[in-house]
Amino acid sequence: MTAMGKPDVARTPEPDEAPGSAVGPKPDEAPGPAVGPDPVVVEPGRGVQPGRGGRAGLDKRPDQVAAMFDQVARRYDITNAVLSAGMDRGWRKATARELRLAEGQRVLDLAAGTATSSRAFAAAGTEVLACDFSVGMLRAGQARLARRPPVAGSVRLVAGDGLRLPFPDAAFDRVTISFGLRNVADVPACLAELRRVTRPGGRLVVCEFSQPTWGPMRRVYLEYLMRALPAVARAVSSSADSYVYLAESIRAWPAQPDLAGLLTAAGWTNVGWRNLTGGIVALHHGDR
Ligand SMILES: C[S@@+](CC[C@H](N)C(=O)[O-])C[C@H]1O[C@@H](n2cnc3c(N)ncnc32)[C@H](O)[C@@H]1O
Repeated sequence: MTAMGKPDVARTPEPDEAPGSAVGPKPDEAPGPAVGPDPVVVEPGRGVQPGRGGRAGLDKRPDQVAAMFDQVARRYDITNAVLSAGMDRGWRKATARELRLAEGQRVLDLAAGTATSSRAFAAAGTEVLACDFSVGMLRAGQARLARRPPVAGSVRLVAGDGLRLPFPDAAFDRVTISFGLRNVADVPACLAELRRVTRPGGRLVVCEFSQPTWGPMRRVYLEYLMRALPAVARAVSSSADSYVYLAESIRAWPAQPDLAGLLTAAGWTNVGWRNLTGGIVALHHGDR
């Protein structure tokens, strides 16, 4: 910790440095610093500070997105469970299955938030690195992991920006992002960065809200989102405004085939997707 009581800030590599010189794990090292009293903060380079209020706009300014998640962190998991009527647990398990995990694999859970999915991934005996640029979300996750450690494998928390990951090339067997890609300012750049840190033969799974495939359901769903979601969120969340952003960002998100096109354009192969809950959520996958 610094004298100001803020978490230490580690250095990110300059763009012209060799990839392996990034702050973070080397391929033959354990992936990232362990969970400690404070998450290790890797300078995201975007002026991110925990604890500022407000909600993000659809331009997804990284400082606003991180600040918004800092603000909702304390009640994030309970709000999710209420708003998804408990369905998020099934979506997380389906993501773990889609990743085709095996014991001993190194898994990057980007935009991991409170590391709820990371815990499910570790259950397969994997070493999960949970990375996020919201220090508030990581702290909430850290407290949760201390109360309920993974039943198998390990979960480590690292602060970092998905557009400038603090890991060397080919460091992970599996990379995944749940309900995070929609919040990233530059989706193609994030998909390319995820590919950079995946070993050849590795796999990506993106779990994200998507478009219900049945027309009438799609209309009801989008009405529900726009009208009911912020009101419900007001009752359970610490920041109802953030859930206006959630509704807006889901509406603006590309449909399944368009997101698949972005994965392909970023260099992922064998790209496909599977709809969950009628397409409310889609799991996109690709191979490196
Ligand atoms: C809706 S939460 C999802 C958290 C978790 N994956 C889950 O399934 O519950 C989105 C997360 O994305 C993170 N995020 C958004 N953009 C990011 C970026 N560029 N780098 C790292 N994290 C990012 C936010 O801080 C937030 O914690």
